[in-house]
Formats: sequence, C-alpha cells, structure tokens
Amino acid sequence: MTFESNYSLKLLNTFGLSVQAEYFARFNSIEELQKLLVEAKRPIMILGGGSNILFTQNLIGSVLKNEIGGIDIIDEDEQTALVQVGGGVKWHDFVIWSINNQLGGIENLSLIPGSVGAAPMQNIGAYGTEIKSVFEHLEAVHIDSLEVRIFNKDDCQFGYRYSIFKGELKGQFVICSVNFRLNKIPKFNTSYGTVENELRAMKVKVNLENISKAIIAIRQRKLPDPKDIGNCGSFFKNPTISNKQYEKLKAQFPQIVGYSIAQDKTKIAAAWLIEKAGWKGYKHNDTGVHQSQALVLVNYGQAKGKDILKLSQNIQTSVQQKFDITLEPEVNII
Ligand code: EPU
Repeated sequence: MTFESNYSLKLLNTFGLSVQAEYFARFNSIEELQKLLVEAKRPIMILGGGSNILFTQNLIGSVLKNEIGGIDIIDEDEQTALVQVGGGVKWHDFVIWSINNQLGGIENLSLIPGSVGAAPMQNIGAYGTEIKSVFEHLEAVHIDSLEVRIFNKDDCQFGYRYSIFKGELKGQFVICSVNFRLNKIPKFNTSYGTVENELRAMKVKVNLENISKAIIAIRQRKLPDPKDIGNCGSFFKNPTISNKQYEKLKAQFPQIVGYSIAQDKTKIAAAWLIEKAGWKGYKHNDTGVHQSQALVLVNYGQAKGKDILKLSQNIQTSVQQKFDITLEPEVNII
C-alpha cells in the first residue's frame, strides 16, 4: 500500500494506451483506501478494470486502483440471495460465481469487461438486462471527507449507461462494495433477438449456464478481445431521437435500425449510423473502427489516446452531417 511514481498504466487500461500516473497505489480495504486518501496528491482518480476509459494524456496527481475482493452471501430467503461483492472483483468472475451457485439475474451480463465497483457507475447493460434490475445497495467512501455512505437504488438514479456517479456526484465517491439480490428461481430473459437464435443453434436447454455460454459466444464473435486488440467496447451510446425525426430518416434510409423506447422516443443503433457513414473497418495508422462492430474503436498497437479521440470526433461530425444525430461518447475521456 505504497505510492509508486511515474507508473505506467498501459496494462491497466483495455485500450492499451501508454500513459503514466504521477503517483499510483492499490488498496484492498476501505481502511487502506482511507489512509491513501489522506496522503494522496490531488487530483485523485480511481481506477477499476480500466475498460471504459480513454487516456489522452499522462495523469497528474494520484491514481488509486480498487482491489477490494470478496463475494459473500450475506442474507437469503426461499427465493433470493443477497450477495455482497468487493469493488475490485472482476465483473465476469462474479457472473461465473453466480452461475456456479445457481443464482440468476446477471447471466446476460456475461463477459462484460471491468470491475464490480465500476459496474453501477454506468449501470452496465447488455442483451436486455441492466445491473439496476438486481442492484440492492452499495457502499462508497467520500474522497474528501472519508465518510462511508450507503446508496440504495433510488439514490443512484440509474438510467441508460448512467448513474449519479457520472452526474452530480462525479469524482466524489469511491465505490467499495456492491450488494446484489439474485434469484434462486431464475427468470430467464432471452428475448434479445440474437440470444434466442444462438440458444436454438446450440440445441441446448435454456438454463443459466447455457444462456451465459450463448452470450459469451455472441460477444466473442462480434467484440474484439482487449488482450488481442485494444478497445473499450461500445465507444458511443445509442442515441435517442424523436419519433418525428425517426420517421423522416426512415423514409430516406428504410434500413435504419431503431427501437421505440417511449411514446415519442426512438433509440437508434449507433453502430448502424457509423457503418452507414462509411466507417466500419476503417483503419488509419494504429487506430480503427472494428470490422465486426462499428461501435467499437480500436488500438491496433501504438495508437495514442489523442488519435482515438480525433477519430471519434471525425465519426461524430460525419454522423451529424449525414443523419443530423449527435453521438455521445460512452467511455470516459481523460
Ligand atoms: N449494427 C450495425 N452495424 C454493426 C453492428 C450492429 O448496423 O456494425 C446494428 C444491427 O442491426 C444490430 C444493432 O445495430 O441489430 C444493434 O447491435 P448490437 O446488438 O451489437 O448492440 P449495440 O446496440 O451495438 C449495445 C450495447 C453493448 C451491448 C449490446 C448487446 C450500448 C452503447 N452498447 O450495443 O454494450 O453488448 O447492445 O446488448 O448500449 C458496451 O457498453 O461497451 C457494450 C458492448
């Protein structure tokens, strides 16, 4: 639990970007974190799995890495189990643990990179499930006062790829542990088109393990593994537009992919927009747009964060010009 200086973060961000932290330290408990917070040179940045972050420069101040472990059932009844998970646990390790323990609710979130502590930050979601559906509460430490605070579901203000920790409380709290209510009698959710097809093609019965396997297979086919090609999953959020604008676009582009999400709102597949604007498979030096999923920007080796940022801005401009839609980044740009 000591500070190291000029510490390389290359292996700690899934874009694989070579940046340095002026000071760096790891913590394994709330007490260790509180000690570090007293000493740490400001500004302070908390790092989880580094899978949703684009570093465009070296970091001044301190980077603290959450390595709080532990997965424990702390309460249960006939139908559910309340599970407390350390913020430093890898999200996918927790998913595998839940499947091994026959507890349902997060199997659709298999293979999402990142840590448990970062998961509530942006209410991670995939294949028709978001963590808010199993979230009970979390424990967090205030960076300046060191106060430990409990946030229940309403406090977190979860939305699509959003929580209060990305808004009003940005940069103020460290999420140390998260409690989830998982189901002993799982309710399977295979309605997301590709999941049903995958299970049918696998010719297996629908259970937690097979849903997880199906999702892992889909993700491995479409999303590059950061171990091979640096990336942060979806770079942009899927934008929401008015039905009126959607109808207008649909007349011009009959293939456009959109899902109605409210009476007057349609969510558009950003990947479709980016692909139609001609970017899918684009490569310039070591930056690019993945050839199987246009929403994923990649680092083929020596790209700089600034190059990826520039590429993302060029994509935004061209989507704006072609479709009059503003794409917002999903990753945190530092
Ligand atoms: N599509 C294209 N071109 C592409 C890829 C997809 O046109 O290159 C179209 C397809 O028609 C497809 C639609 O876009 O039906 C949606 O594609 P996909 O199912 O791959 O999902 P997505 O909307 O691109 C979102 C999440 C992913 C999550 C998947 C599955 C966001 C920003 N992304 O992607 O999350 O895994 O759904 O649920 O909401 C992440 O957040 O990092 C992430 C990977």
